[in-house]
Amino acid sequence: MEILTSIRAWQVWRDSIDPQKQVGLVPTMGALHAGHRSLIQRCRRENDICTISLFVNPTQFNDQSDLENYPNTFDADCRLCEAEGVDAIFSPEYGDLYPDDYRYRVTEDEVSRLLCGAHRPGHFDGVLSVVMKLFHLARPKRAYFGEKDWQQLQLVKGMVDAFFMPVTIVACPTVRETDNLALSSRNFNLSQGHRRKAAAFPRLLATPAPVEEVARLLEADGFEVDYVQDFNGRRCAAIHCGGVRLIDNLPLGYGDGQ
Ligand code: PAF
Repeated sequence: MEILTSIRAWQVWRDSIDPQKQVGLVPTMGALHAGHRSLIQRCRRENDICTISLFVNPTQFNDQSDLENYPNTFDADCRLCEAEGVDAIFSPEYGDLYPDDYRYRVTEDEVSRLLCGAHRPGHFDGVLSVVMKLFHLARPKRAYFGEKDWQQLQLVKGMVDAFFMPVTIVACPTVRETDNLALSSRNFNLSQGHRRKAAAFPRLLATPAPVEEVARLLEADGFEVDYVQDFNGRRCAAIHCGGVRLIDNLPLGYGDGQ
């Protein structure tokens, strides 16, 4: 497995790949968990070459302390990638990936303002900009994204269509813990007590009731609620639990008849 930390090294490696071979990319910010593992495994199965990016992207953080507290488990991430048969890890420095210091960026003007975008101004500009850079550098035939980040997934698909980018976005189901909490790198930051409490989030989100009522139930349980909203076939929500921001979504009607 190659671990490439500069753009130049990545480009040399990428250019050495036989053009007949299909390259898959799993874009991540590291702190890998079983959800990422499922993306990697699918990428491995469906492509000749499996690549992953590990880059904590500062431009998608609107809150400096959130960026500083983002978990970093680089050595463990490399071991997981090696065990799953990843061919190359791309893990650049900010200055290398953003030679323009983010003067140029990708902006979407509608969906990016809703839900998480309403609470994290500029977040999706950062996501779309870095994903576009990664696509240009990796030139993947397929790229793998988790459905947990439902809004991100819709925006990335929209960008690919808008800019005629020759990559297929593969949406992968959310992987959950046994108590149904969606796997997320942010779960690493939950205390034991808050981790137990967080199990109520997916349970309450599945309540077959109007969004306002679900938000009330979450608040009554002690969560700080950013939003509960139906969007593009899903009930989406973001909450804070012990200072950690968690997001989740379920197909509309998921809780009916339970
Ligand atoms: O979902 C993530 O981990 C990030 O938003 C992504 C897509 C890797 C861009 O930094």
